[in-house]
Amino acid sequence: MEQEFHAYETKVPCLWNIELIMENSLKGKHIILGITGSIAAYKAAYIIRALVKKGAEVQVVITPAGKEFITPLTLSTLSCHPVISEFFSNRDGTWNSHVDLGLWADAMLVAPATASTIGKMANGIADNMLVTTYLSCKAPVFVAPAMDLDMFAHPSTQQNLDRLRSFGNRIIEPAEGELASHLVGKGRMEEPDRIVAVLEDFFASRTRLEKKKIVITAGPTYEKIDPVRFIGNYSSGKMGFALAEACAEQGAEVTLIAGPVSLKVVHPNIRRIDVESAEEMYQAAIAVFPEADAGILCAAVADYRPEEQASEKIKRETKGEMTLRLVPNKDIAAALGAIKRDNQVLVGFALETNDETAHAEGKLKRKNLDFIVLNSLRDAGAGFRCDTNKITIIDKEGGTTAYPLKSKLGVAVDIVNKLATILK
Ligand code: CTP
Repeated sequence: MEQEFHAYETKVPCLWNIELIMENSLKGKHIILGITGSIAAYKAAYIIRALVKKGAEVQVVITPAGKEFITPLTLSTLSCHPVISEFFSNRDGTWNSHVDLGLWADAMLVAPATASTIGKMANGIADNMLVTTYLSCKAPVFVAPAMDLDMFAHPSTQQNLDRLRSFGNRIIEPAEGELASHLVGKGRMEEPDRIVAVLEDFFASRTRLEKKKIVITAGPTYEKIDPVRFIGNYSSGKMGFALAEACAEQGAEVTLIAGPVSLKVVHPNIRRIDVESAEEMYQAAIAVFPEADAGILCAAVADYRPEEQASEKIKRETKGEMTLRLVPNKDIAAALGAIKRDNQVLVGFALETNDETAHAEGKLKRKNLDFIVLNSLRDAGAGFRCDTNKITIIDKEGGTTAYPLKSKLGVAVDIVNKLATILK
């Protein structure tokens, strides 16, 4: 028989949360905590306790399977709110509005998130209150997976997680360790204090770049040879797009000048200008930079273009052997560096294969940058066409910070944090 947990709806006096509530970014935030059917559900109790202690208001939404692992009484006592699981109360027919809940939330956290719930969220299978709430939620969503290592590694789960990422949801990666099955591997839900720290960081950083205008160049440029051929490079644009998302996440208004890439922008505060050639990128950048607080030059701009562009397709039979004469393109970074005001910050990149530091320092000075992000093609997992990067930041005061290999989004956050300290 379906458990009548609405019987617990009496407002439990929350004596323990009268403890000193520290001033922090979670204070007053409305958090929906979605709990699903995993043994890690017991950890949700610790998450609630930590969130409430930090001054957040927590509304638990639990799946039917979740209730097999932790009782609604425990959850409602800790959260001081009735736990929601069904669309309406069996007792008195009260309708639980997932739409209202979705609008109430400042963030939704699904922890633990089973493979099944992740699959439903990724594919819009709204057969329970948790998934309908997720679909109605306009606030940022955090997902902390918990499952066995093989389930986590399965392409189906990974594809679903990628899908959630593409919706802008944040995945709190599971940790490695002993699992409920006694197997050891990746799949264990991240520890409650780490999960709460992710949310705290998120809210703390959200206003760091508020009212700041940031211009970012990203991707390759294509330099036309004829209507069907061009000179280009391997840049995917992923680093620049990750930077745009990270800046927007921290409250900035971003103008993203993108070369030809097959990437999508997620955050609504990113205005995208698509360009093809270095000249078009230069024109767009020079037009918007005077109004900006900062510029991040992440594009792999072609240094040269064909001196002449054929208006019709060049034919092999008529041309035979051919020589392309190339002329230099404008250096966008140097042009912006030359017009940069004292209150503007300019950030460049240097992708090098040898004498990395010397080359990066040379570009930092030549282009009048505030700091330069160096990546070396000698580092595995760094550079073009991968999802990770390994960087060293060198600033104009001579300070150098080397970072470990991270996802491009993680690297973007490090760069944006550095930028935020200067812009402040
Ligand atoms: N850059 C730019 N416009 C160009 C060339 C480079 O804005 N025409 C920017 C890049 O976006 C990057 C920095 O300058 O932030 C360094 O780019 P890189 O290609 O490494 O430097 P170059 O000056 O082109 O030097 P080289 O290719 O000889 O290493």
